[in-house]
Amino acid sequence: MNNFTYKNPTEILFGEGQTALIADRIPKDATVLMLYGGGSIKHNGAYQQTLAALADFDVVEFGGVEPNPVYETLMQALEVVRDEQVDFILAVGGGSVGDGAKFIAAAAHYQGDDPWDILAKGHEVTQAMPVGMVLTLPATGTESNGNSVITRESNGKKLGFGSPLVRPVFSVLDPSYTFTLPPRQVGNGVVDAFVHVTEQYLTYPSDAPLQDRFAESILATLVEQGPLALSDPENYQVRANLMWSACMALNGLIGQGVPQDWATHMIGHELTAVHGLDHAQTLAVVLPSLLRHRVDAKRAKLEQLGQRVFGLTGPEAASRCIDAIEGFFESMGVATRLSGYQLDQSAIPSVIASLEDNGMTSLGEHGDISPADAKAILIAAA
Ligand code: NZQ
Ligand code: ZN
Repeated sequence: MNNFTYKNPTEILFGEGQTALIADRIPKDATVLMLYGGGSIKHNGAYQQTLAALADFDVVEFGGVEPNPVYETLMQALEVVRDEQVDFILAVGGGSVGDGAKFIAAAAHYQGDDPWDILAKGHEVTQAMPVGMVLTLPATGTESNGNSVITRESNGKKLGFGSPLVRPVFSVLDPSYTFTLPPRQVGNGVVDAFVHVTEQYLTYPSDAPLQDRFAESILATLVEQGPLALSDPENYQVRANLMWSACMALNGLIGQGVPQDWATHMIGHELTAVHGLDHAQTLAVVLPSLLRHRVDAKRAKLEQLGQRVFGLTGPEAASRCIDAIEGFFESMGVATRLSGYQLDQSAIPSVIASLEDNGMTSLGEHGDISPADAKAILIAAA
């Protein structure tokens, strides 16, 4: 295991009704920007309960943050923050709203010309506004990490940044808000959380048996509970288990001191930027194909995962494990081929060009996934 420093300051308020507790966690007399997406929060109780909890604050609403949040929209929200002298940003929604809030929080204190450079040039965030979150979609882990991924419409780029300064100070995880999720988003959320775990686990053995078992327990829980959320959508306990699993998958814990991959995510972000697939759809396409491409380098962990999560032993355990992952994604209703999204091989060159343009030329835990490898991975996933 490698050396690490681990600090997670996000306070999780977990369970039904917990939104009522947020008022005590926001500075008294603060003006609060309530940031949300296309309106789903008005149908699951999150909007009404959040406004009720904020009764003693000045609240400014800003709706319309898109899935794969758009820089141009967030810059409008930043103007509102300045005009209304907002002190605290509360994101109410899924990962896109959470990521959008983090970008605004960092942009509000950015000293350069264009806050896009936080993403495009990796400018360090030295100060940020405080962010809180009321989560309605378990998937990204944004509710408890310092990451944010933003899309710029004018140039079609989807880029990420990370800073401990934008990690939410608190996040409400009320599973009852997730009852309204359509099956597509349930499947997306389970696949995204699953791949967050594999990015931090499916590398090579590194003498970290506790991190391995943390990772395997999250994967096994997703494999067990994910299908139940589709077949028994009103089951609160299932929703609760998925919400906690997705949070644990990317709050930093399981990745401490171990090698990490993230090639699937980097290739996937280009697929979203260029062809508009949902984030998790891209992961379902890329991961099985990438694992087949890298089966030798990843064999030891694939066999361990196959045995401990899918109960696979005997010959060809690594490749049968990849088949099992692919089958699981399909069982969650998330297609694992480009053809499942009306794309063929002609869609691939523009994705590779974008990958190169963004400098994503040596990906994976060994830095040896080149654009040529990414091309082969996508061709095999067509
Ligand atoms: O916009 P509204 O009307 O709210 O509808 C949303 C949206 O259409 C809807 N939704 C959310 N909660 C709902 C609901 N519909 C019914 N009932 C509910 N309870 O779901 C749709 C998708 O929402 P979105 O927030 O876009 O999904 P998700 O949470 O999957 O977030 C995806 C974004 O997060 C980024 C992705 O790249 C993508 O931009 N990621 C962020 C990460 C992070 N910050 O750590 C890591 C991830 O790997 C990922 O890259
Ligand atoms: Zn993801």
